[in-house]
Amino acid sequence: MRRLARSARSFLPAQLSMAQLRESAAGCTGCDLYKHATHTVFGEGAVRASMMFVGEQPGDQEDLAGRPFVGPAGRILDKALAEAGIARRDLYVTNAVKHFKWEPQGKRRKHKKPSATEIAACRPWLEAEIAVVKPRVIVCLGVTAAQAVFGKAVRLNEMRKRPWSTPIAPSVFVTVHPSAVLRHPDAVERDHEYRGFVEDLRSIRLHLRSKAA
Ligand code: URA
Ligand code: SF4
Repeated sequence: MRRLARSARSFLPAQLSMAQLRESAAGCTGCDLYKHATHTVFGEGAVRASMMFVGEQPGDQEDLAGRPFVGPAGRILDKALAEAGIARRDLYVTNAVKHFKWEPQGKRRKHKKPSATEIAACRPWLEAEIAVVKPRVIVCLGVTAAQAVFGKAVRLNEMRKRPWSTPIAPSVFVTVHPSAVLRHPDAVERDHEYRGFVEDLRSIRLHLRSKAA
């Protein structure tokens, strides 16, 4: 991945600990997204988690709460995790981009996809989180997360259903983003997408268990 003139890199603390990272990220101005957001939404969860989940970027509710996946997408994620037999408290959950990107739509703040430059600018935080947590498995929720973890654009359907190894993580799975499930206009299709999501999560859990011991 090319080097950027501006990125989160210069904000990284000298010592990589979760507390230090969180504190330093709160003041990050490594790209312009901090300007219109409320908080840096850093990852959270078990610091020695065997699984790390990576989303795209905080949404409206996450921006206000300062915590990842606490809004509508988080509720779908929680439901799917429970059905797949995975406890959220055992995970570390984060996002590829730590500030909410949006555009006004009436009174609402409408989610706007982060650019490749913003994903790359924010990547040092994700790399540092991976270095501290050292998860055995990383689960990318959607293509933005995958782009951050793989360092290049990827296609969802070509990446699903098997683990990949990348320079920053040995075992990476890619599945659908819970918001994509939520957004499906057709109820039958939506249910189908949701089932596929739960199925992916279940097989990731079994993969992890088969590699345990
Ligand atoms: N969508 C994401 O990708 N991350 C969040 O934290 C919330 C919604
Ligand atoms: Fe820093 Fe990432 Fe926020 Fe940009 S999005 S200001 S790189 S934390």
